[in-house]
Amino acid sequence: MADYTYNFTGKTILVTGASSGIGKQICLDCAEAGATVIMLGRDEERLKQLLYQLEGGSHQVITGDLKDEQFIERACQGLPLLDGVVQSAGLMKLVPLKFINAAFIDEMLAVNLRAPILLLSALQKQKKLKPASSIVLLSSVNGVAVGSLANSVYGATKGALQSFCKSASLELAKTNIRINCIAPAMVNTEGTAKISEHVSAEAIEADQKNYPLGRYGTPADIAGCCLFLLSGAGSWITGSTITIDGGFTAQ
Ligand SMILES: NC(=O)c1ccc[n+]([C@@H]2O[C@H](COP(=O)([O-])OP(=O)(O)OC[C@H]3O[C@@H](n4cnc5c(N)ncnc54)[C@H](OP(=O)(O)O)[C@@H]3O)[C@@H](O)[C@H]2O)c1
Repeated sequence: MADYTYNFTGKTILVTGASSGIGKQICLDCAEAGATVIMLGRDEERLKQLLYQLEGGSHQVITGDLKDEQFIERACQGLPLLDGVVQSAGLMKLVPLKFINAAFIDEMLAVNLRAPILLLSALQKQKKLKPASSIVLLSSVNGVAVGSLANSVYGATKGALQSFCKSASLELAKTNIRINCIAPAMVNTEGTAKISEHVSAEAIEADQKNYPLGRYGTPADIAGCCLFLLSGAGSWITGSTITIDGGFTAQ
């Protein structure tokens, strides 16, 4: 019988974007399930605060900028063997077409697409992934499933991540390593709070009515699926994208 438990005792999971939102919740849930969590982000203060909140004692913090290829290589060198990797670090910025410039495109690509690819490549090169480990990439419904205003570059990076995941899954399958995307719709996080700063409470409430389940998501809604993919319960899922959107794209 397959292992359907979320008992991660003895497992080591690397989480990028650990200092905030979805990544932070995934760290909390992985630690609660018994994993040793390695948290990566830029904001050392927030990462240290999270470290104190985690259950268990041997978690680690890595600080640095994922736009920096050398940082990615160095960070990988210091890692132990991993059972799971969650790439949640991402940049969400709304920019209408007429204001897009090369610097903006480069920044979005560097964080949302280049970094997860380079990190996975470095982990492979340095043989840091255990056989049967599981990789989860945070994509979005925005990009492949739907578009949204002023979100074309973001959507392009997240759509590309799903394409990358498919081909990468074929290479990784040779060592029984799985890679999948999660594609959420709107989730309340520190990141989306910044984007919504200039939107009225009434407009947000009205927007939530567009969701058949009547609300935006929470980081816990996404973390639950992530732990499923990291666990033995997801052992025959690879190259897939799982949509978590309160029914938004079912319409
Ligand atoms: N929230 C949503 O509605 C939603 C919907 C669909 C998809 N997603 C995706 O889900 C992921 C998490 O979203 P979220 O809402 O939790 O985001 P968030 O609250 O804005 O957190 C983003 C995280 O990414 C890290 N990060 C950003 N740039 C980085 C860089 N250059 N180097 C290292 N770390 C960097 C941040 O770390 P520091 O602050 O420490 O630098 C932070 O921990 C993102 O990939 C996002 O695109 C989110």
